[in-house]
Amino acid sequence: MKTTLALRITVVCLAVAGIAVLVAGLVASRLVRSTADSVLQQSLRAQADVVAGQLDDTGIGSRLAIGKVAAVVRGQGIEVVVHRITGQNTGQATALHAAEQAGLTSGADHSARVAVGDLDYLVEVRTVGTQAAFALVQPVRSAEATQRALVRNILLALGIGLLVAAAAGYVSGRLLGRPLRRAAAAAGSLSAGRRDVRVPVEGPAEVAQVAGSLNELADALARSEARQREFLLSVSHELRTPLTAVTGFSEAIADGVAEGADARHAGATIHREALRLERLVSDLLELARLGADEFRLDLGPLDLTALVRDCAEVWQLRCARENVRLTVEVPPAPTMATADARRLHQVVDGLAENALRVTPAGAPIVFALEVTQGQARLSVRDGGPGLAAEDYPVAFERGVLNARYRDRRPVGSGIGLALAHGLVTRMGGTLTAGPAAEGGAAFTIGLPVEGAG
Ligand SMILES: Nc1ncnc2c1ncn2[C@@H]1O[C@H](COP(=O)(O)OP(=O)(O)OP(=O)(O)O)[C@@H](O)[C@H]1O
Ligand SMILES: [Mg+2]
Repeated sequence: MKTTLALRITVVCLAVAGIAVLVAGLVASRLVRSTADSVLQQSLRAQADVVAGQLDDTGIGSRLAIGKVAAVVRGQGIEVVVHRITGQNTGQATALHAAEQAGLTSGADHSARVAVGDLDYLVEVRTVGTQAAFALVQPVRSAEATQRALVRNILLALGIGLLVAAAAGYVSGRLLGRPLRRAAAAAGSLSAGRRDVRVPVEGPAEVAQVAGSLNELADALARSEARQREFLLSVSHELRTPLTAVTGFSEAIADGVAEGADARHAGATIHREALRLERLVSDLLELARLGADEFRLDLGPLDLTALVRDCAEVWQLRCARENVRLTVEVPPAPTMATADARRLHQVVDGLAENALRVTPAGAPIVFALEVTQGQARLSVRDGGPGLAAEDYPVAFERGVLNARYRDRRPVGSGIGLALAHGLVTRMGGTLTAGPAAEGGAAFTIGLPVEGAG
C-alpha cells in the first residue's frame, strides 16, 4: 500500500526534529562538560592558593591547623592531603592515593587530573617552604551530575520537538493533500465519462499546476470528443448519399423498372457511386493507418518539376471543363527531392480538388514550384473565396473545416487535408495553409531539396 502524503511529511518532520535535538544535545553536552570541569578546576585552584597563603612552615606541621582547613573544605567534598619530608604522607586514603599519583612529592606547585578506580579527581598541589607540601583533592562527581541533568533536559526537548513536528507534519500534509485528492477525484470522474468536472486552481504553485493541467485536459477531451462526433456525422452523411443512389438504382434494375438504356444509365451511376464509396473508405483506412507503425512510404529521389507538370496535365482538362484557368509556374531545371511519388501526387490532387470545388468560373488556379534556401515549396493557390484567419490553425484537423463550411459551400467528406498533412509530415516535409495572392487559399508543401547543403 502507498503511504499518504501526510504520513510522509510527518515522518520527515519527526526525523528532522529528532536529528536537530540530538545534534544540539551532543554539542551542548560536550560544551557543558568541559565548562563544568574548568569551573571546578578554577575554584579548586583558588582555594588551594588561599590555603597556601594561610599555612606556613609551622602551620603545616600543626595537626590543629591542618584539621581546621580540612574541616572547612570537606564541606565542599574536598580532601586535604599533607606531605612532610620528614614523615609520612597523611590524609584520607583515596585522596592520598590520587595526590601521590598527581605528584604530591614533586616539590612544585601544579594542577592535575587523575583517575583512581572509576572516578576522576582534580588535584591541586602546593609546596609550603622547602620541607612540606599539601594537596586539595576533589572528585569530579559534580560534573557527572550536571551531565545527567542535561540528558534529562535534552530528552524533554526531544519529546516536545517530536510532538510539535508530528502535529506540524500531519497538518501540513493534510492541507497539501486535500487539493491533490480533489484533483484525483476529478480525474476519476473524467475517466468515468463526465466532462463537466473542473477543479479550483489553488494552493501551492505545483498543486495549482496539477489542477490547471487537469482542467485543460478536461477541456481538450471535451473538444476532441465533439470533433470526433462531428467527424462521424459527416462521414456517415458522406456514406449515406452514394448508398442511397446505389440502393435506389439497383432496386429499379431488379424490379424491372429500368430497362435498356435506363438500366445502363443506372448501372453507370451505381458504378460511379461505388467508386466514390471505395475512395472514401480507403481514405478513412489510410488516415487511420497513418498513425500506426506498419505504415510504409516508398521514398526515393523524385523530380518535383516533373511531378507538378504531370499533375497539371490531368487538372488542365478538369479545370477547362469548369472554365477555370490553370497556370503552372515551375523552374526550368529538375528539382530533386526525396519523397513518395504516388503519395505526393495524391496530396496535390487532393489540394487541387479542394481548390477547384470552390473556384468560380473565370478565376485562376495556380500550381507553383520554387526553391529557396535548400527548400522546395510546392503550392496550390486559387482565386476562390479562401479561408478565414481562424481557419488556418485548424485546417489540418480532420473534419473541422468541412463542418464549418458544409452549409455554405460545396464540400467533400472532410478527410482530405488531414490525410495530406499526415502524408507530407511522414515524408519529412511540411504542409502549411495561408492566403493566396489570387484571392483564395494557398496550400504549400515544403520539402528539403536533394543535393542542397
Ligand atoms: N482551397 C480552399 N479554399 C476554400 N476552402 C477550402 C479549400 N481547401 C479546403 N477548404 C475547406 O476545407 C474543408 C476541408 O477540406 P478537406 O480536403 O479536408 O475535406 P473535403 O474536401 O471536404 O473532403 P475530402 O477531401 O475528404 O473529399 C473543405 O470542405 C473546404 O470547406
Ligand atoms: Mg478535399
